[in-house]
Amino acid sequence: MNHDERRVAHVDDYLTRCGLGEEHRRGYEGRSILVTGGAGAIGSNLSVALSRLVGPSGRVTILDNLSAVKDREPWNVVPLPNVMFVRGDVRSDADLKRVFREDPSIVFHLAAFFANQNSVDYPETSADVDVIGIVKMLEYARLSRVERFVYASSGCAIYGSYPELPLKEDFVSIRLTTPYQINKMTGEMYCNFYHHHYGMKTVNCRFFNSYGPGEAPGQYRNVIPNFIYWAMQGRSLPITGTGEETRDFTYVLDLVQGLVKAGHAEAAVGTEFNLAAGREISIRDLASMVNEATGNDAPIRFTPRRKWDTKPRLLASIDRARELIGYEPVVDFPEGFQENIRWFRDAWPTIQRAADFPPGMSSAVRGAGTVGVHKGER
Ligand SMILES: NC(=O)c1ccc[n+]([C@@H]2O[C@H](COP(=O)([O-])OP(=O)(O)OC[C@H]3O[C@@H](n4cnc5c(N)ncnc54)[C@H](O)[C@@H]3O)[C@@H](O)[C@H]2O)c1
Repeated sequence: MNHDERRVAHVDDYLTRCGLGEEHRRGYEGRSILVTGGAGAIGSNLSVALSRLVGPSGRVTILDNLSAVKDREPWNVVPLPNVMFVRGDVRSDADLKRVFREDPSIVFHLAAFFANQNSVDYPETSADVDVIGIVKMLEYARLSRVERFVYASSGCAIYGSYPELPLKEDFVSIRLTTPYQINKMTGEMYCNFYHHHYGMKTVNCRFFNSYGPGEAPGQYRNVIPNFIYWAMQGRSLPITGTGEETRDFTYVLDLVQGLVKAGHAEAAVGTEFNLAAGREISIRDLASMVNEATGNDAPIRFTPRRKWDTKPRLLASIDRARELIGYEPVVDFPEGFQENIRWFRDAWPTIQRAADFPPGMSSAVRGAGTVGVHKGER
């Protein structure tokens, strides 16, 4: 088996294990589904799962402009007979006309300008992709009478810096610290508008820190792939802050489970809910686990926190998702982490090619002065 085939087998195992059974298979079978951002970390996994659920009589169309992918190669799109990849932009009418000709009944909108540091460096592009992008997607979805529109929102975009934990959906902060957060929150508000005004069946899914197969390391990527990548090369892991900061790391297939259920459950319509693991891991513990798993004995080093990085802890309540859609994360951190390491070993040459760092730099290890320079010059 090559690493794509192993990914498909892993998704098949997961679908059986998490109880996405007959009811969901019947609900999805034969459908035409559109996934934006389907060449990305989460969208690539979602597309595999949907391909299995729609079956041979259905189809999954991926719209992705590959802007987040080094060398613009769709290496992360697993080739499957009922999945069609369209290289295109969510802001382009020509590209949207092309994919909406497939007559999708459900849209999963995951394309985004990822993520916080990227949006600080390029605020206009962030607003263009994340705000104009979702408005265009919602308009096309409305005109095509799409049955459901599921939006990938973000837990970090809603709750501000120091809310009460665990984070519950009724709390909202407008004191956000990056354009990404502002734009992702705006996306939810547009979904709510289309739901209220046109009765469109929109669902806002608030993801928390995804990790797992399909996410390559890079200057704007999450901490887990970057730590694994550096540790596998015997490099010292940089912690921005004290290391006591926590995140609610969520296995990517658990997020996929939540999305699939959000695209199906009637109770999800017009609502928003967290999709998370519902437990915290500190960055210091994470670094130790990564070093241990990879046999890396280079010492951890500490660098100043980035100015926008104001959240000491993230821990989500998943009660609402449980209640509305029957969401239940099934992969605990040790298991998901081992699977992530396995994928890195399996796909190492691909990951090395896909790793997207400008020479000698990662956003996580820039000094405060360097961040200032980047902010100023762009
Ligand atoms: N990864 C996380 O931890 C996390 C957490 C919260 C929310 N989210 C949200 O989930 C979604 C998916 O995240 P991900 O980690 O898979 O990100 P990703 O960057 O891996 O995937 C996003 C994809 O969108 C594509 N894209 C960017 N601009 C586009 C455009 N204008 N037109 C078409 N395609 C475009 C990129 O090429 C990329 O493949 C995003 O909306 C993100 O904001 C992710």
